[in-house]
Amino acid sequence: MKKINALAVIGTRPEAIKMAPVVRALRATGRFDVHVLFTGQHRGLLDQAAADFGLVADADLDLMRPDQGLASLTARLLEGIDAVLATRSFDVVIGQGDTTTVLASAMSAFYRRIPFAHVEAGLRTESIDSPFPEEANRRLAGALATIHFAPTRGALANLLAEGVPADRIVVTGNTGIDALLDASGRAPELPFAVDAVDRLVLVTLHRRESLGAPLRGVLGAIREAIAGVPRARVIWPVHPNPHVRQAAAEMLAGVPGVELVEPQAYLPFVSLMKRADVIVTDSGGVQEEAPTFGAPILVVRESTERPEGVDAGLAELVGTDPERIARRLGTLLTTSVRRTRTVNPYGDGRASIRIADSLVKLLGTRPAMNPTVPVVIPNPVLKVA
Ligand code: UD1
Ligand code: UDP
Repeated sequence: MKKINALAVIGTRPEAIKMAPVVRALRATGRFDVHVLFTGQHRGLLDQAAADFGLVADADLDLMRPDQGLASLTARLLEGIDAVLATRSFDVVIGQGDTTTVLASAMSAFYRRIPFAHVEAGLRTESIDSPFPEEANRRLAGALATIHFAPTRGALANLLAEGVPADRIVVTGNTGIDALLDASGRAPELPFAVDAVDRLVLVTLHRRESLGAPLRGVLGAIREAIAGVPRARVIWPVHPNPHVRQAAAEMLAGVPGVELVEPQAYLPFVSLMKRADVIVTDSGGVQEEAPTFGAPILVVRESTERPEGVDAGLAELVGTDPERIARRLGTLLTTSVRRTRTVNPYGDGRASIRIADSLVKLLGTRPAMNPTVPVVIPNPVLKVA
């Protein structure tokens, strides 16, 4: 039987982590010839995550520039991805999430009339500016997608409310939880010496809309909150964005109890999430993964497209107001907080298998699919809390 030619496009760290299980599941069906394209929107972070998951690129556009602007990155992506699409007859292009790589992949596929499959579809906030530019990226990619793999029922509802036909949406769970469940049993010893009595705060911060004064405000709040707590330890694997690094150096370098460290490989980072007493983050992926380990999560953003963690009482959306963050973090560090053991609301570890099965049903029975012809795919029932 002729194989289905799939192009899996991956640009950044989270895309590598969340697409690795998808690539594996597609290959396991024996029905796909999967061509993996790294755009290199990230360099070091992408290479690190790809190595963690044994993900190897068939082609690499190597596009990252220091302090890259969104317009020039998008222009380079469109040209680079299109050149790859010209090399063979792809049956489907698959992208994950809401990065500039994903938007450019959806556009490139659309221009060449190739179906675009959107993994982690349907996440929404109420404002196109928040998070910036990701909310626009995912809405625009969604508008061009042929098939939407929604991680949760909330994401399904968002897509239906926008008029996406039900037979174009499959609720799968988040593929990041596939990666996490696969890896968490292999998480190594904690990569830092942390005493049992230490109150460990794990920090990750990188959002573009927070760069500048909001980020400095958050860092000032962390500094203030730990000042009166003798056993407080902060570990922050600092994102390589130069604006983030500069703020970290200005606000937290040399502060007692604070360790600014390089981005961690995936497994040691999982160990940090397991040990943390509090997690302070603006990351999408960390909001999804951390509930598995039960430490309270302070989401330092004005809005979140991942309301399930907040609704379950596992995460708190604290915004970027320094006073509020200092107060909440201070309270969590000085009171004994019970870890919440619950089912992760973002997935059950089988998302990638559902995606692979759906794509076989969608593409395996017909030689070429016109992206505008409706398709009917049975919607598997995802049991999530
Ligand atoms: C990007 C995504 C964001 C995602 C994040 C995951 C966009 C617009 N943003 O944000 O949605 O949450 O990745 O981390 O798609 N850099 C390095 N090495 C790296 C990666 C980045 O030096 O491995 C530096 C470079 O100077 C680069 C800058 O960080 O220009 C910004 O990278 P970019 O991918 O544009 O944005 P992120 O903030 O990383
Ligand atoms: N992560 C990692 N090492 C780190 C920090 C994060 O492997 O030092 C992982 C984390 O487990 C999650 C992903 O990177 O899977 C989140 O990436 P990021 O926060 O950069 O992007 P976002 O999820 O916000 O798009």
